[in-house]
Amino acid sequence: MSSKSRPYKSPAARFVISSPSLELCPDLDGQPELAMVGRSNVGKSSFINKLCKRKRIAHTSNTPGKTRLINYYLIEESWSLVDLPGYGYAKVSKTEQGRWQRTLEEFLLERTPLLGVLQLIDSRHGAQPNDKQMNRWLMEAGVNLAVVMTKTDKAKKSQLAKMAASVRKDLERTHGFFTFSAETGEGAEELWWALKEWRDGQRTTGKAD
Ligand code: GTP
Ligand code: MG
Repeated sequence: MSSKSRPYKSPAARFVISSPSLELCPDLDGQPELAMVGRSNVGKSSFINKLCKRKRIAHTSNTPGKTRLINYYLIEESWSLVDLPGYGYAKVSKTEQGRWQRTLEEFLLERTPLLGVLQLIDSRHGAQPNDKQMNRWLMEAGVNLAVVMTKTDKAKKSQLAKMAASVRKDLERTHGFFTFSAETGEGAEELWWALKEWRDGQRTTGKAD
């Protein structure tokens, strides 16, 4: 087993706050934060649960659009995972989508303790136009970024390899490329250690880069 994917103990993790805006985000003494972005239903909240080895610290749902606020989870009392509303959910009104978009952009551009972002992509669908648009926007904004392909348990191995190759081509990132399943835990250990290295100011690369 490589040292990058060694098991880890269930970390201390607690929900802090759901904030509707950047202004109301918590003061956590400037401790580093890593945020999840991705289309609705891609598995952002499930990612946080699996990484924290909790069933329901973050709320998940089959219905897209479940996460509507900026949700803070404090890990080991020293860094945070931030669950953000998903983009691209067609059933939400244009007005509401616009409002979320502005909240998201303001948070990503102006949140000082934000160390970086994980952009989650569904293994079965690959990078959709709005994922590519978000990826370009993040890179142009100078945001540190890792790409994570989710729900790998739902894709066949051969399909997954092809999809991973095209996502790697389609999306830029500064901090690595990962695969992950919240169902089986595939990739969780590697990601856990990579996020810890990132938190500690070390550059992570991800196995596939
Ligand atoms: P929004 O809050 O709407 O933006 O969605 P989200 O990105 O937080 O997705 P969420 O974690 O709520 O997951 C959506 C659905 O996908 C849920 O029914 C999860 O159980 C399921 N899901 C998430 N990750 C995985 C995975 O790795 N494998 C499988 N099979 N299902 C998953
Ligand atoms: Mg969610």
